[in-house]
Amino acid sequence: VVHPVILCGGVGSRLWPLSREHYPKQFLDVGNSGRTLVQQTLERLQGLPSLAAPVVVANEAHRFLVAEQLRGNPLGQARILLEPVGRNTAPALAVAALAALQQSDEAVLAAFPADHLVAEPAALREALGDAVEAAAKGWLATFGIVPTRVETGYGYLQAGPSLPGQDRVYRVERFVEKPDAATAEAYVAAGDHYWNSGMFVLRASDYLAALQAHAPEMLRCCEAAMAAAVADLDFIRLDETAFADCPADSIDYAVMEKTDAAVTVPLEAGWSDLGSWAALLEAGTADAEGNVLMGDVIAEQSSGNYIRAESRLVATVGLDNHVVVETGDSVLVASREAVQSVKAVVQRLQAAR
Ligand code: GDD
Ligand code: MG
Repeated sequence: VVHPVILCGGVGSRLWPLSREHYPKQFLDVGNSGRTLVQQTLERLQGLPSLAAPVVVANEAHRFLVAEQLRGNPLGQARILLEPVGRNTAPALAVAALAALQQSDEAVLAAFPADHLVAEPAALREALGDAVEAAAKGWLATFGIVPTRVETGYGYLQAGPSLPGQDRVYRVERFVEKPDAATAEAYVAAGDHYWNSGMFVLRASDYLAALQAHAPEMLRCCEAAMAAAVADLDFIRLDETAFADCPADSIDYAVMEKTDAAVTVPLEAGWSDLGSWAALLEAGTADAEGNVLMGDVIAEQSSGNYIRAESRLVATVGLDNHVVVETGDSVLVASREAVQSVKAVVQRLQAAR
């Protein structure tokens, strides 16, 4: 049985002003598809055999958003683990693993970020089958995306030989999280490196054993936070003191860079991390001038822009390679190359409070 785990606790500051601290992007219908990102994350798993009900790990501050958006989801009543503070993804997956082990010693986790797009869910479901098979043998499975640009915001994995009996699953020779630009450029040029998609398939017991080996203090705090957790309606509230003591780290740094049990399943499913406005421009449907226009927008003699109007008409004339995002109370105008720095605006707003 595969336990879907949805990592839902990020703040999405690079998608300001659409994504807000109290209303981050995973709870928004970013692509105007009628479903929010977290809803799509669950719905694309529909049709997979032997799925347990999902475990969703979110920040306490978003509990009502999560509960409302998961109500009636096709995978069944979710268990919602609430973090009193964010400690990044490695502890979030640890508490999900502990929750799944309450149901089965053999539980396999399939962990998904709540804020990605997958254009071809059927291809993802097929790759998941390979990953689950590898995880059942004790491997920690990732999904490898063929890089299309030099990107420093991702993890890179170098593929080695395939597993015996699983010719679509490769050993990971090396995993490097968020390399600098020169290193990323070399990896992309080398041709044998993939981007890490950020989705992981592994047995709960294997993940906890890896934490015991590489981050024992984190494991100890997560066990304490679960042992003293309080069940409340659909929620499981982690113990505040124990979880606050937990060191913060991502799965990538805490485990994947260090383990020698990683494997990767190459994935061609129209995957996109909606990490920045540039990613939304790449993932969107462009007009003949290469503009992605959302809402009430007129783009005259303009090209290569992402322009989004939420509450008013937005018009541009002679504007190229920019991002313009209007929401009820804020307007962002950024050059395309600088969009990673949008989070600096959020930091200034936070500092000014
Ligand atoms: N519950 C919980 N708690 N979820 C969290 C937390 C937390 O403290 N922090 C982040 N998340 C969620 C985010 O909402 C997101 O869905 C997912 O975990 C991944 O976190 P990010 O912060 O978006 O990671 P990243 O994009 O920098 O890097 C990861 O994804 C890349 C691909 O998109 C890594 O796995 C990279 O190696 C990978 O290339
Ligand atoms: Mg991300």
